[in-house]
Amino acid sequence: MLSTWQEIEEKCLNCTRCRLCEKRHNVVFGVGNKDARILFIGEGPGEQEDLQGEPFVGRAGQLLDKMLYAVDLDRHQNVYITNIVKCRPPMNRDPQEDEQDCCIGYLREQTRLIRPKIIVTLGRIAGMKLIKPDLRITREHGAFIERKGIWMMPMLHPAALLRNPSQMEGAFNDFLILREKIKEICPDVYDR
Ligand code: URA
Repeated sequence: MLSTWQEIEEKCLNCTRCRLCEKRHNVVFGVGNKDARILFIGEGPGEQEDLQGEPFVGRAGQLLDKMLYAVDLDRHQNVYITNIVKCRPPMNRDPQEDEQDCCIGYLREQTRLIRPKIIVTLGRIAGMKLIKPDLRITREHGAFIERKGIWMMPMLHPAALLRNPSQMEGAFNDFLILREKIKEICPDVYDR
């Protein structure tokens, strides 16, 4: 039988499937509207996210919130935000293949229940895992592809923008492209 949101969340919060459970303070399951049309997926929690149990609450998250706000989106209201792995990789290293594979089932279940119309991946790791393994994020960010009725777009990671502000304009342009796609395929996001 298919699991409910509550069952999946409970399983995830108690998960010991991979080594990342050993050092975590909190499992970072996700935040936002479970009926959202738009799902944002990062790679994994950082220090602040691990401490607070919510995705994208550090400096990169504050930048993400600003960019969402600029196109009339809000983390609690009309998007859902989560990560490929739900526990913090030590020293913020990339999540390893086996860690991603252990955790991806939770994301699949979240996606099944949310039934988003648009998925935005944030950064190279999430883009490679969910869109295509040979993704060149610096060249290919901002381009939508359609898969099984879901429009998917890779974006640059906000932490990368903080390190390299010259990419900010291109990244902001991706949010404008996103807004146009929302108006095209799910305009009710802005009507509600
Ligand atoms: N980076 C991510 O990919 N996810 C977070 O939740 C925070 C930082």
